[in-house]
Amino acid sequence: MPTIMLLNGPNLNLLGQRQPDIYGHETLADVLALCESAASPGFDIRAEQSNHEGHLVDWIQEARESCCGIIINPGAFTHTSIAILDALHAFEGPVMEVHISQVHKRETFRHHSYVSLRADGVLIGLGIEGYAAATRQICQLVGPQ
Ligand code: DQA
Repeated sequence: MPTIMLLNGPNLNLLGQRQPDIYGHETLADVLALCESAASPGFDIRAEQSNHEGHLVDWIQEARESCCGIIINPGAFTHTSIAILDALHAFEGPVMEVHISQVHKRETFRHHSYVSLRADGVLIGLGIEGYAAATRQICQLVGPQ
């Protein structure tokens, strides 16, 4: 079954508890449930979260062999990580970048994304609905299974 890798970076394990005025009250479990319900029939979702950059790089490398697309919210690594960008460049399928908050309304250091240099689509400021849109887009790009 084609699998979409759903990756969340640092501090997103605290989704629902951390700055709910910015990130909302839904949890990472809610995000996974949302993606599962947004996925077309025949697609599976593998969800991983880490606070460590190297773990995210390892999962992106694993996705080269086992996944048809990647949805990634790299958290603060968005704005700093050339290693994550390089790993994504080594992945051939569609990549969707998600940010729950509208980063362009926030501090200027959040305005630049290394990951956007590779992403095929960027969902910003839609809350967790951005993950559902990213899932639908990957299913559409990969095609019926
Ligand atoms: C975020 C935005 C980042 O700037 C921040 O560091 C995060 C979450 C978002 O989903 O809005 O951790 O990626």
